[in-house]
Amino acid sequence: MLDIGKTATWLLRRLNPETAHELAIHSIAHGLAGRGKPDHSALRTEALGLSFPNPIGLAAGFDKNARAVRGLARLGFGFVETGTVTPRPQPGNPRPRLFRLVDDHAIINRMGFNSCGIDRFCQNLTPLFRPDGNGTVKAAGVPLGINLGINKTGADPLVDYPALVGRTKSYADYITINLSSPNTPGLRDLQATDMLARLLDAIQTAHPDRPPLLVKLAPDLEDDAYGPILQTALDGGADGLILTNTTLARPARLTDPHREEAGGLSGAPLAERARHVLQLVSDLNNGRLCLVSSGGIETGKDILERLKMGADLVQVYTAFIYEGPAVLTRLKQELLHEMSRSGIRTLASLRR
Ligand SMILES: Cc1cc2nc3c(=O)[nH]c(=O)nc-3n(C[C@H](O)[C@H](O)[C@H](O)COP(=O)(O)O)c2cc1C
Repeated sequence: MLDIGKTATWLLRRLNPETAHELAIHSIAHGLAGRGKPDHSALRTEALGLSFPNPIGLAAGFDKNARAVRGLARLGFGFVETGTVTPRPQPGNPRPRLFRLVDDHAIINRMGFNSCGIDRFCQNLTPLFRPDGNGTVKAAGVPLGINLGINKTGADPLVDYPALVGRTKSYADYITINLSSPNTPGLRDLQATDMLARLLDAIQTAHPDRPPLLVKLAPDLEDDAYGPILQTALDGGADGLILTNTTLARPARLTDPHREEAGGLSGAPLAERARHVLQLVSDLNNGRLCLVSSGGIETGKDILERLKMGADLVQVYTAFIYEGPAVLTRLKQELLHEMSRSGIRTLASLRR
């Protein structure tokens, strides 16, 4: 029998990457991409004071403008992170800016925060919430993360991030401040501990009532930079870290001709560094901050490994681009299989 999901994914992979992306968002937003099965209760995960049907989230950057949140939740993600959204609309970098490195199971992107801007973004989210006479009810079905960034020009991070938190805090189950896209000049400098401390203080002062706050970090910092950042995040009242964004490094084993393109590399070649950074931070964390691992996750075995290393949740992006929604069924089956091989009956038992 023809599997529509698989056929659509096969077709999308033959299109120009941005055209394929637009088509995918459109079909998911209109409920044409299918629906996942209810999750096995063994996959239920608690983190950030929230309940997740499974620990596999969609990483930021796929649904930058919050156009397909409900459809993405239906596919079977355990949570969906939308954005990065910037204060004002901006087009991002000139095309081409998105490259598939198929044989390397990787992507290079230099999108540069193409964003509809926060006004439109909030308009797109509004239909997800319906009044229930008692405030609003979240209708996305799974926890919703909102990832915030700054404009390429005219940005003032100490003003812009708190303002964006204020605009999104009533929609988000958690908020991520993205300090690690390699495609916005100067953004990664905000990871310096003095700047991070000021940023967290500005957000905390303006919005003590905010939802849980995560900081998304780059994989390209020196190893000894992560400890002080972890401490600064703890001191500043952050709730978690996302480890990691894309890398500027180009591992020697890349074979695709696009490997020299400028931008952030994601997918399989990022896995080793993302694992290393997770281990570094996890060893120092002692369970204090929620850790979300992102970077090159392709199998259920990868997921269980990251969870055992100290991640509370994981996120995927590149594997979803290559495999489409079927990746979720596969990852969950493999994860359950790996759990049973390791004698782990529920993910909740990993954290006790
Ligand atoms: C095309 C593309 C766009 C991305 N855009 C964003 C973004 O807007 N904000 C962000 O925090 N991360 C962004 N990312 C990074 C992903 O969220 C993720 O952290 C990274 O790709 C590593 O995961 P992966 O190896 O599973 O792809 C983007 C990644 C890709 C491939």
